[in-house]
Amino acid sequence: MQDAVREFDLFLDLEPPTDTMESDVWDGLSQTQPCLPSKYFYDARGSELFDAICELPEYYPTRTERRILEDMVPELNALLTEPTILLEYGSGSSTKTQLLLNHLDALTAYVPIDISRDHLLATGFSLAERFPSIRVLPVCADYGQRIPFDWRAPELADAVGAKRMVFFPGSTIGNFTLPVAMNFLHRMRELVDEGGHVLIGVDLVKDSAVLETAYNDADGITAAFNRNMLHHINRRIGSNFRPEAFEHQAIWDSAENRIEMRLIATETMSISLPQGSVSIPKGRFIRTEYSHKYHLDGFTRLANQSGFVVDNVWTDANTWFSVQLLTAV
Ligand code: AVI
Repeated sequence: MQDAVREFDLFLDLEPPTDTMESDVWDGLSQTQPCLPSKYFYDARGSELFDAICELPEYYPTRTERRILEDMVPELNALLTEPTILLEYGSGSSTKTQLLLNHLDALTAYVPIDISRDHLLATGFSLAERFPSIRVLPVCADYGQRIPFDWRAPELADAVGAKRMVFFPGSTIGNFTLPVAMNFLHRMRELVDEGGHVLIGVDLVKDSAVLETAYNDADGITAAFNRNMLHHINRRIGSNFRPEAFEHQAIWDSAENRIEMRLIATETMSISLPQGSVSIPKGRFIRTEYSHKYHLDGFTRLANQSGFVVDNVWTDANTWFSVQLLTAV
């Protein structure tokens, strides 16, 4: 991989911390309401299960967003008149991005940002090959990190004067609480500078039955995804969760406009962690994820408070999902 790294004009490795799981789990389970960070869904098996979720008939966000993107991309192409650098947080396999790389004539460079170094570089290479006119400049970093990009660096000479646009699809913004979402948007605002853009997927409030069905699919794939977090944690820190002794639950909280995913203990257990043991009584639940849904005006307020105006909103015919173009002011 070392030789390969040298082939990129610029590979920025911010060496994101990867070993905070022990303290994250201990801290989460010590809360009055025990919780675990949703980022621990995604080991190799969890990523496979998430890909399977995206194909489920009940899970509307992925295919709805894809259709919106396919429909709106010509309009976006006409809106982007200046050379533009596309950045993407949590780029993974960059699947949806290829649609943009294929159709947006203004793009001069693509900056995928991801915590998984190997995946980032492998995807970076294949994209660099497929899109020779677009420079691929990978950055290995965590979502939470500030990206100290020096836009005047010699490797980025042709970036001077180019607009920047962050792509953040999938409504991953919904997995953050409101203050964290605002902080994250503020950081994007710093990254793109005045006049720069964010193209973001935002899932919308809708009928609760549609929402609860999307997170409680008939084949139990979401339940397996939820329990897999405990397998992942056991493997990494040697804990003794019994995933099969937890029941999956996903409920819609209409006061907070969010789906809350839980793992409910079906028996009393004592979990051994490197720091000590934690008792979880039967019936107690561990919160594993929030997935916030927005009203359009609520998201506009959040964007405005984070230094953006909302320029364009594209939705599907049911107004279930939106793709929004924000401009930094
Ligand atoms: C990644 N994220 C946007 C998904 C969501 O819908 O909140 C994660 C997910 N959790 C359960 N199903 C999908």
